[in-house]
Amino acid sequence: MHGQFSRLPVVLLTGASTGLGLATAHALASQACRVALTARAESLPRLAAAGLRESDRLLFRPLDVVERRQRETVVSELTDRWGGIDVLINNAGIAYRAVVEHWDPNAWRNIMEVDVVAALDLTRLVLPGMRTRRSGRILNVSSVGGMMAMPTMSLYSAAKFALEGATESLWYEVRPWGIWVSLIEPGFIRSDSFRNTRFTQRSFSAAMDGDDPYHAHYLHMAQFIERMMERAVATPERVARRILRTLRQRRPPLRVYATPDAHLFALLRRLLPRGLYHGILYRALPHISAWGHENGKPPLA
Ligand SMILES: NC(=O)c1ccc[n+]([C@@H]2O[C@H](COP(=O)([O-])OP(=O)(O)OC[C@H]3O[C@@H](n4cnc5c(N)ncnc54)[C@H](OP(=O)(O)O)[C@@H]3O)[C@@H](O)[C@H]2O)c1
Repeated sequence: MHGQFSRLPVVLLTGASTGLGLATAHALASQACRVALTARAESLPRLAAAGLRESDRLLFRPLDVVERRQRETVVSELTDRWGGIDVLINNAGIAYRAVVEHWDPNAWRNIMEVDVVAALDLTRLVLPGMRTRRSGRILNVSSVGGMMAMPTMSLYSAAKFALEGATESLWYEVRPWGIWVSLIEPGFIRSDSFRNTRFTQRSFSAAMDGDDPYHAHYLHMAQFIERMMERAVATPERVARRILRTLRQRRPPLRVYATPDAHLFALLRRLLPRGLYHGILYRALPHISAWGHENGKPPLA
């Protein structure tokens, strides 16, 4: 990675406490770079618990990405201490399970603040230094959910589609300064992060209530996603290695399909006409014939 920069690069990683963030933290710790691993204050002890140790090249810093003050403090501390940030990895992210009918404004604000606003504001803060040095890397961790939407994941896809759109604009804007921007798009990762998926009040009661008209949507999609994550070949460590490989590339692509299923979905999207693509995916939804019926069961013939 060092070869891409005129000095020992300074990396800022968000959401380093678990999952892909923690795997990326471990991968970065052994590289020739200076790294600030950040996490919400209450999650920060997990870094030491996972065997990482602070040193003159590895800092642990509290950063709740929705807190504007904390974003500014971390960036200004790294600028004073190490002369600026060369690589920003926006990894922190949350997901909600809710059909559109069960959205609420708080969930909408929450996911947009964590998954989109924080990433763009950190980008805004690191760009002046990158422009002055005429180099830099920004990696925004998106998802296959940022190129295709799944039922019950409307909030997540809305956020990741927004992140993808803004990142694509950014790619054009900052290339003249030699700043490279990439979207890391993992598909299903073998981890238990599906347990962190949040619910709105209405989506939670519908998921619990067998008589709710949307109960089958929640039941079958939750089972499907859990199964896909348990069986996924991709691990957080493997995706972290892909992130490192992207950082070493002289001209990294805008979209990095970070797992085998992400490659497959990208290929299907490229090859199939949109109408056909949506039709095929609709028919492939788990137990789709039961959706929209009482108790998730189709009516007796
Ligand atoms: N898992 C998958 O299959 C998958 C697939 C595609 C894309 N992704 C993307 O990969 C990224 C990492 O997800 P993951 O799978 O590792 O999920 P995860 O295990 O749930 O980890 C999410 C990370 O984000 C952090 N985070 C959440 N809210 C935060 C906030 N306000 N401030 C700072 N950190 C915050 C969490 O910290 P706390 O521990 O403090 O809550 C945690 O470290 C996300 O952007 C996600 O959308 C994941």
